Amino acid sequence: MKYVFSDRISALKPSAIREILKVTSGGNVIPFAAGNPAPEVFPADVIENIASKILRQQPVTALQYGVTEGYLPLRERISEDLKARFNIGREFDEIIITAGAQQVVDLAAKVFLNEGDTVICESPSFIGSLNCFRSYNACLKGIPVESDGMDIELLEKALETEKNVKMIYTIPNFQNPSGYTMSLEKRKALYELALKHNVIILEDNPYGELRYTGEDLPSIKSFDDEGIVIYAGSFSKVLSPGLRVGYSVSPAEITAKMTVGKQASDVHSPMICQMIVDRWLAECDTAEHIGFIRSVYSRKLNLMCDCLDSEISGFISYVRPLGGLFIWCELDRNINMLDFCKAAAAENVAVVPGTAFMASESDRTNCFRLNFSTPTDEQIVEGVKILKKVCEKF
Ligand SMILES: Cc1ncc(COP(=O)(O)O)c(C=O)c1O
Repeated sequence: MKYVFSDRISALKPSAIREILKVTSGGNVIPFAAGNPAPEVFPADVIENIASKILRQQPVTALQYGVTEGYLPLRERISEDLKARFNIGREFDEIIITAGAQQVVDLAAKVFLNEGDTVICESPSFIGSLNCFRSYNACLKGIPVESDGMDIELLEKALETEKNVKMIYTIPNFQNPSGYTMSLEKRKALYELALKHNVIILEDNPYGELRYTGEDLPSIKSFDDEGIVIYAGSFSKVLSPGLRVGYSVSPAEITAKMTVGKQASDVHSPMICQMIVDRWLAECDTAEHIGFIRSVYSRKLNLMCDCLDSEISGFISYVRPLGGLFIWCELDRNINMLDFCKAAAAENVAVVPGTAFMASESDRTNCFRLNFSTPTDEQIVEGVKILKKVCEKF
């Protein structure tokens, strides 16, 4: 049979990261490509204990259908925590528990985007979100990201000139892939511009807790007295991405629409996973666990920066990230980034070409993304040495 797929899915290209990972799926590949948490930071024994307690004490709640909005104790706990620590959430806001931050992006897109509507985003940006917007046949308008966040002048111009702008998508903290963090001034300016132009902001913050240097900055959602921000949070980077637990905070009217959208896709997120996260928050020293993750990642970041500085500073430049999982390396000359990454893959080092993260094919870049959380210390040292050889070849 000749399958006739929807336009929506036909326009989507396979993720360059997945393609690179396919080529480099052997056991001895140095993994600088994915954005996975370090295997050594998963608290498997803690989760085992919590899960068995849940199954002993509340088996029916854990195994039965639940409500689409999510497990109420978890929603209440997250709501209190966000208010107390980050001034996130107003009287009009409500929370839904989702399958990771990725589902918040999908639900926001489902609820707001008609075919041909424009989403303004950072360029580069997170491929998963860009592909999600593409799957709704939205137009993407990329705004260059500077080391202190989106270029606000270009954002303003885009808001004035682009047609049917519905949404600004931003990752203000330790952005994926650039690692850059938006300054407070730019956060405020972005909020004011969105308000002036009647545009929704989708603030995606999966890395917010992973800061290694400096003080936390207020989230854009914390300014949101007018109800224009959908905030996406996630337990993927601080507990486990496999549990698939994230959440959205948005005005009740938007949340109601997102709830209907979620009902149509997966009914609700798995109860057992939500209950595990709830008990983890209630019973464990989460601050200590996140402190442990930060110490592991900041050590790996320092090591990777030291290696880059000593091995390949003649070929690349980068801005040292204040947190997150990624370093965005810019090569000092124009070369084909896919060829560069294929050459690295042939030497068993997986890195992702910057071109994969651009909002449109015409946005140029000489960058590649390095992840420092997944590789071991030995792999970081060895992998950067191999990258030096690849740089020399080019
Ligand atoms: C910016 C950004 N948003 C969302 C996600 C999806 O994360 P989750 O596992 O919470 O769905 C990721 C994953 O890497 C990400 O980098």
